[in-house]
Amino acid sequence: MPHKAFPGRYPDTRLRRPRQAAWSRRLVAEHVLSVDDLIWPVFVIDGNGRKEPVKSMPGVMRLSCDRLIEAVGDAAALGIPAIAIFPFVDPALKTPDCREALNRDNLVCRAVRAVKAAHPDMGVLADVALDPFNSAGHDGIVRDGRVVNDETVAVLCRQAVVQAEAGCDIVAPSDMMDGRVGAIRRALDRAGSVDVQILSYAAKYASAFYGPFRDAVGSAAALKGDKKTYQMDPANADEALREVAMDIAEGADMVMVKPGLPYLDVLRRVKDTFAMPTFAYHTSGEYAMLKAAAGQGWLDGEQALLEVLTGFKRAGADGILTYAAPEAARLILDKCPGTGAG
Ligand code: PBG
Repeated sequence: MPHKAFPGRYPDTRLRRPRQAAWSRRLVAEHVLSVDDLIWPVFVIDGNGRKEPVKSMPGVMRLSCDRLIEAVGDAAALGIPAIAIFPFVDPALKTPDCREALNRDNLVCRAVRAVKAAHPDMGVLADVALDPFNSAGHDGIVRDGRVVNDETVAVLCRQAVVQAEAGCDIVAPSDMMDGRVGAIRRALDRAGSVDVQILSYAAKYASAFYGPFRDAVGSAAALKGDKKTYQMDPANADEALREVAMDIAEGADMVMVKPGLPYLDVLRRVKDTFAMPTFAYHTSGEYAMLKAAAGQGWLDGEQALLEVLTGFKRAGADGILTYAAPEAARLILDKCPGTGAG
């Protein structure tokens, strides 16, 4: 017996019929990946005219602010709505109290100001977390070998305010401390940044897929141990819903599930349960895997990229952070010219 919601029966119903022609496949497509869905994470470094390849992320560069402005111009021309700025901080500036995170003139703030001055219509996001500034490599302050929660949250609040003052449109707490979203919201409001949005890395797992990112920002060398006391256990999904629920209650405007591909089930449940603007992070390790295989000629990199990003959409993502955003945008525009901003 056919299922009552799906009454079709062969040979009257042939599901291959609508798949016969490209026009027909386009007509019945349930999800469409668009340039509007992309957030491009970028790595910024001190200096001028610098463009350093990140070894474990083929095609990804650390850029000095002047070069970043050019790159963001290209992204804007492709119609990419937003970027996420990550700093490679001079190791000499990393301390146990992470004070450089609060410097109004730190690399992140300078990059945000430079990008917003050159491209005011580009959405700019910055991570709220201490790892790039921490000599211990952790996202929070370490005392007696423990990452301490409430003291870290107090520093994160100040970091978020400094980033908002530099012109950040979205602050994105990626640290997984308890209670930080509400505290950051109150701190932003007190500082007059009521319109700055919070994208919470709400369900962020302790993952091996962040390896290349830690190379790119230079935090791998500093980090001893792992992040399992604050990032989530990959075995858990119900707990992700509790994390997301609490962040929404605390004032998150948008929520994220991270990493992407191994957590599509979590993404779908979060979207279905909360109907919030929901983002997926196609992490550095996922990017590296794809590029490595494509580089060997073991799969078609372009096709695989679009398939992965479409998979995020199908699983419920409203938007995707991906290092391949410019490449994906070009592929989308090639396929369907006229949909970009350029
Ligand atoms: C830092 C941060 C990480 C990522 C985004 N923000 C790494 C981590 O938590 O160790 C990962 C990004 C990626 O792998 O692409 N809090």
